[in-house]
Amino acid sequence: MNFLVTGGAGFIGSAVCRHLCANPAYRVTNLDKLTYAGNLASLRPIENAHNYRFEQADIRDERAVLEILRRDDIDIVMNLAAESHVDRSIDGPGAFIETNIVGTYRILNAALEYWRGLPEARQGRFRFHHVSTDEVFGDLPFDGGMFVEETPYAPSSPYSASKAASDHLVRAWHETYGLPVVLSNCSNNYGPYHFPEKLIPLVILNALDEKPLPVYGAGCNVRDWLFVEDHARALELVATKGRPGESYNVGGNSERTNLDVVEAICDLLDLRRPRAAGGSYRDLIAFVTDRPGHDRRYAIDASKIARDLGWAPRENFDSGLARTVDWYLDNKWWWGPIREQRYAGERLGQGSIENSPTQNSPIEHKTFESSPAGNGAESRKVAT
Ligand code: NAD
Ligand code: TYD
Repeated sequence: MNFLVTGGAGFIGSAVCRHLCANPAYRVTNLDKLTYAGNLASLRPIENAHNYRFEQADIRDERAVLEILRRDDIDIVMNLAAESHVDRSIDGPGAFIETNIVGTYRILNAALEYWRGLPEARQGRFRFHHVSTDEVFGDLPFDGGMFVEETPYAPSSPYSASKAASDHLVRAWHETYGLPVVLSNCSNNYGPYHFPEKLIPLVILNALDEKPLPVYGAGCNVRDWLFVEDHARALELVATKGRPGESYNVGGNSERTNLDVVEAICDLLDLRRPRAAGGSYRDLIAFVTDRPGHDRRYAIDASKIARDLGWAPRENFDSGLARTVDWYLDNKWWWGPIREQRYAGERLGQGSIENSPTQNSPIEHKTFESSPAGNGAESRKVAT
């Protein structure tokens, strides 16, 4: 079975590529533009695998996507490419509109043209799997309620609004043109290779640098956390066994306030890497101005994917967080260059809007003969 994974150099996409490549019956093409969030170092464990290849391209480049679909004889597209950080979407929504909405529109067009040209038996097996977020459902009160697949969409941020729009496009391409699509909406992921702009890796690395640990508002907002490898297994099931036209909610059944999460990281680090000057890492916690439009709570009811596809998470929050902290302690080779060269942990998302979609222009397409180290955008590329 041949997979095209878009956004495979990102946090979740790289976990999906690593997971799929462990199955010798699968071939995986990773298509990624390599924005600030894309990192080929996250593919190091599989970069020389016989069933893996990398293609630098933009999902907005319909021709390039179509060529790759045909060249690699793709059976399943898993669309993870996106701008993914809420705080960046507050500062610069343009890139989110470009990639998450226009990009999804373009890759849908490419997939539809490809699918229409397939023989009938292959058409029946083809899937376009769109990977989305629970944030499309919007804000839940602290005292109850969970997102089910039928919960109406009510996004709050430019990020979640752009993902909601993309989900609607995907459904429309199914209803209108018959493209066999599946969707999944997942809660907050965490784990190894997570870009350190997101809460958990940011707090781990700031703590190790003895920097303040920024908690928005009073730290009482609640997220449901899922270990990224559990999400990768869920995505394989949705893509290969999900029913066309259906969506599946994926969650970790691990609701925590942000303050609980930050304190749990501090406690793990206190045991594993005690501060040189003594005291607890909790002393570094700093309550800062809240995020504009900050959703109070997300909670996922994942009973449909459990019932229909037999999925359950293997990690609980304590075991997954311990694995994550240990991974960051052991893998400075991965995050050191990011903190030095790409993002040092400064506050994002306070609302000084920057409209130009600079991260997304122009469209480029380059073929890699093998995966270069680091972000790799400058080395060993062959323009096509
Ligand atoms: P990420 O930001 O770590 O990775 C995104 C990847 O997409 C990067 O490698 C980037 O280079 C690539 N990309 C961006 N624009 C592109 C374009 N125009 N063309 C091709 N590639 C492009 O994101 P992530 O956290 O791995 O999230 C992956 C997907 O999962 C997203 O669609 C996101 O909405 C969804 N999701 C994320 C979470 C989470 O907690 N992180 C939860 C649920 C759903
Ligand atoms: P984040 O990791 O950005 O994910 P998302 O916004 O997609 O849920 O944030 C998780 C939660 O942590 C969210 O409620 C905002 C909060 N947060 C902080 O309190 N401090 C921080 O520095 C960051 C990045 C997030």
